[in-house]
Amino acid sequence: MNEIITRKVLAEGVKEFAVAAPRLARARRAGQFVIVRVNETGERIPLTIADADPEAGTITLIFQEVGKSTLLLGTLQEGDRILDVVGPLGRPTHIENFGTVACLGGGIGVAPVHPIAKAMKEAGNHVIGIIGARTRDLLIMEDRMKAATSELHISTDDGSYGTHGFVTTVLEALVNEGRKIDLVVAIGPVPMMSASTKTAAKYNLPCVVSLNSIMVDGTGMCGACRVTVGGKTRFVCVDGPEFDGYQVDFVELVKRQRAYLKQEDVARRQFLEHHPGERCWETKVS
Ligand SMILES: Cc1cc2nc3c(=O)[nH]c(=O)nc-3n(C[C@H](O)[C@H](O)[C@H](O)COP(=O)(O)OP(=O)(O)OC[C@H]3O[C@@H](n4cnc5c(N)ncnc54)[C@H](O)[C@@H]3O)c2cc1C
Ligand code: FES
Repeated sequence: MNEIITRKVLAEGVKEFAVAAPRLARARRAGQFVIVRVNETGERIPLTIADADPEAGTITLIFQEVGKSTLLLGTLQEGDRILDVVGPLGRPTHIENFGTVACLGGGIGVAPVHPIAKAMKEAGNHVIGIIGARTRDLLIMEDRMKAATSELHISTDDGSYGTHGFVTTVLEALVNEGRKIDLVVAIGPVPMMSASTKTAAKYNLPCVVSLNSIMVDGTGMCGACRVTVGGKTRFVCVDGPEFDGYQVDFVELVKRQRAYLKQEDVARRQFLEHHPGERCWETKVS
């Protein structure tokens, strides 16, 4: 049982918990995740460790309420306990001094890219952060990304803040200005990671993506998170979550992510029928 020490609302439907987990806070490395189960009947969902405070003994989880389990998690308050928090899982990010690293985060993908940007900067890289959202109100972690990077660029799809366009628009503009980039790390929805890889390929830049396949056990045994990378079967939970974007079969990934849409929709509707207040607005605090 892990207690929620603090709870914040970062944007509509996006919450941040600092969760008591002292051993995890000491052991985790950038790029790793936990599998969370809210209660006895809850499903197991993977969430990236967005940050950790070993002194306070807490890890930070930032999540978007997209379906039943994340909505249920979002109902928890400070002082409530999460039944299971298992981890750290997955291979840590390969961190070294590459030179200049562009860290792209789209939507909720800003949360998982944050610890990587921080670790890349600590390793001596010049880190160009590029974060984006559909609109200004949905942009998260601007201040923390500013601190974690050497320079921060922002884009919004509707032009309400920063560059009008996508994170790839900014990446492309920087390359066209003559900026030398040694590695691109892109995390966000699958279309964003696929587009980032295509943009990187245009300029021959290496590109790492972090895949968000559906998971069950998180230990390589169930096969739920199967993906094809370089023509070979890989399991995101143990072989990833990060892979060379050039090698990822994004079309298959999307198909597998959408395999249970009907069941997910039923579960979400049933949850909302029993919790009619859950989609009401909460005030954004940071
Ligand atoms: C390694 C890893 C790290 C992740 N880290 C985070 C994180 O830090 N913050 C965060 O908000 N989310 C993260 N995710 C995604 C998160 O696990 C899913 O959003 C969650 O499992 C959805 O559960 P649900 O029951 O609320 O929604 P469901 O009803 O299961 O799904 C609702 C919708 O989300 C889609 N979906 C389901 N599972 C995933 C998935 N794994 N990734 C993307 N879309 C999915 C479904 O296709 C459906 O459209 C991560 C996923 C992985 C694999
Ligand atoms: S989640 Fe079961 S094999 Fe990866």
